[in-house]
Amino acid sequence: MLDRLAPQAPDALLALIKLHRDDPRTDKIDLGVGVYRTGQGGTPVFGAIKAAERLLVETQDSKSYLGPEGDMGFVEALMPYVFGAGNPTMGGRIEGMQTPGGTGAVRLATALAKAAGTRRVHMGTPSWPNHAQILADLDLEVASFAHANADGTANLDAVLAAIRGAQEGDAVLLHGCCHNPTGIDYTPEQWNAIAAAFAESAALPIIDVAYQGLGHGMDEDAVGMRTVLAAVPEALIAYSCDKNFGLYRDRVGAFYVMAQDSGQLPAIMSNAYGLARANWSMPPDHGAAAVRLILRDPALTAMWLDELDTMRARMRQVREKLANAGTAGTVDLAPLGSQNGLFSVLPLSKDQIASLRADHGIYMAGSGRINVAGLTEGNIGKFIGALAEVTA
Ligand code: LMR
Repeated sequence: MLDRLAPQAPDALLALIKLHRDDPRTDKIDLGVGVYRTGQGGTPVFGAIKAAERLLVETQDSKSYLGPEGDMGFVEALMPYVFGAGNPTMGGRIEGMQTPGGTGAVRLATALAKAAGTRRVHMGTPSWPNHAQILADLDLEVASFAHANADGTANLDAVLAAIRGAQEGDAVLLHGCCHNPTGIDYTPEQWNAIAAAFAESAALPIIDVAYQGLGHGMDEDAVGMRTVLAAVPEALIAYSCDKNFGLYRDRVGAFYVMAQDSGQLPAIMSNAYGLARANWSMPPDHGAAAVRLILRDPALTAMWLDELDTMRARMRQVREKLANAGTAGTVDLAPLGSQNGLFSVLPLSKDQIASLRADHGIYMAGSGRINVAGLTEGNIGKFIGALAEVTA
């Protein structure tokens, strides 16, 4: 029976990791998968995580099962950072649980939406490719709208039309900040308009927050999501600690529900626990426990926020350098200066992307997405030169 399975192409983004690793050229440049890199090109473990891990080894007295909700100390400690210190539960209307990474959170949010009656999900494109894969796997219909305008700004009209045109049984999936892959975020004013449209719409908002703190700051990057939450009766939030705690392979994420009133939360969460149990049973513990220890210790929290500031400042510097270069061949790099987070998309053809890889050892996603954190003082000149050469 298993011989009926047709071979599938490997995930294109994850396949890039191996392709880059196997390239023997010493001046190769990895602009592929979304991991932060220092100016020396490494992705070190945060100092705050190392300290919390040491504490964890000394103090953890059991690795016995916790339950489908995972480490609720972690889930609750994160809430003031996600939803705001002033009212982190929106008056008791928000509850959450731990998930295996942001992917687990998106999976749970969309599966729960489906269980509650969602049949169609509106999604701006381009988007993180795994969004479409998860929705397809859940047999949810996808209705696409254009995320960005040709001038590099967010297409407000398109998202408003999607929200206003939504029917009963529709959800709208948005990126909270640091849009993946474009780096083009809605402005706070645009979020106001989006929130007002949701308030009048039947659509269920699902907001994916995978890069909080990598754009303008922890609070600044939450403005859009919080604006929507203040305007709507209910919403689902998928959250990732992969990037802002550098925990990638430890798979640390959270899923939050904001319900119309707190009395609905037990029934909603019981459905989420059932879905988690059927998918992964319980999330991996270690990374989330380390985050909990950081967030409960003011000195470790300060250390973590400082490390996050350093990351953000470096990405801004790289973006400024690219923007100041103006153009590279036919590619206008100026818009990258005002985009946010790890990613931007360059208008390159498949052949140009292939030539960057084959002739220059520069690896980027097939969509033209680059991870700006892969650029350093040492390689940015080569990158800009190669862009000019392949687009000449
Ligand atoms: C990315 O987009 O590169 C990251 O979110 C990693 C992933 O899982 O795709």
